[in-house]
Amino acid sequence: MTRDWVRWHDDYDAPGSSLSRRLEVVREHLRDALAEGPASLLSICAGDGRDVLPLLASQPGGRSVRALLIELDPGLAHRARETAAELDLPLVEVRTADAGAIATYADVEPVDVLLACGVFGNIPPADMRRTVAALPALTNPGATVIWTRGRGDGDADPSAEVRARFLAEGFTELAFVAPDDARFRVGVCRRSGERAIPLPPVSRLFTFG
Ligand SMILES: C[S@@+](CC[C@H](N)C(=O)[O-])C[C@H]1O[C@@H](n2cnc3c(N)ncnc32)[C@H](O)[C@@H]1O
Repeated sequence: MTRDWVRWHDDYDAPGSSLSRRLEVVREHLRDALAEGPASLLSICAGDGRDVLPLLASQPGGRSVRALLIELDPGLAHRARETAAELDLPLVEVRTADAGAIATYADVEPVDVLLACGVFGNIPPADMRRTVAALPALTNPGATVIWTRGRGDGDADPSAEVRARFLAEGFTELAFVAPDDARFRVGVCRRSGERAIPLPPVSRLFTFG
């Protein structure tokens, strides 16, 4: 890993920061997803789990959701594990593992809610496409996927390609939040189709740049 992802999380604590505003949007949509009564949740590149864990503890039905958080950084994974213990969430597993490696998902059942937050802006476009294409295999029909992407510095907003990929892979867009005065975008999609889909025959989905 090239970035200090522990320090990256400090921005969450700056009131009014783009990251703290993004967190509120992610939580709002996760709250809606939890209201549907999901049985299972997966967060890839989960960080310290602050988007997911407090909601599992506070929302009706949240405590009965079986959640898997996959995070490569051992310090952040430890922090997430500690938070889950403090909040008394025994159905939460925090796995210190590479979420880009297909082998990591060998024993992972498809879930009802999947979070891919802080992922697509850190990987090449081809990896984003491969990852979105794999999400139907990681989710149940009707599942909710919450994703984020920064708007970037150029004229073209790279979140447009992420949105397009979800549609191309058969997802329906439930919401797309792109405040004019913030750099983040949050997308919420529903997995359509009735069939279970096998994982793609590749060894890697993505690698952080
Ligand atoms: C931008 S942060 C997002 C964290 C969290 N999802 C959030 O939105 O607060 C990216 C996270 O991905 C983790 N990461 C990077 N490469 C990874 C990989 N291959 N597998 C799992 N986690 C990874 C980093 O350690 C970091 O915590």
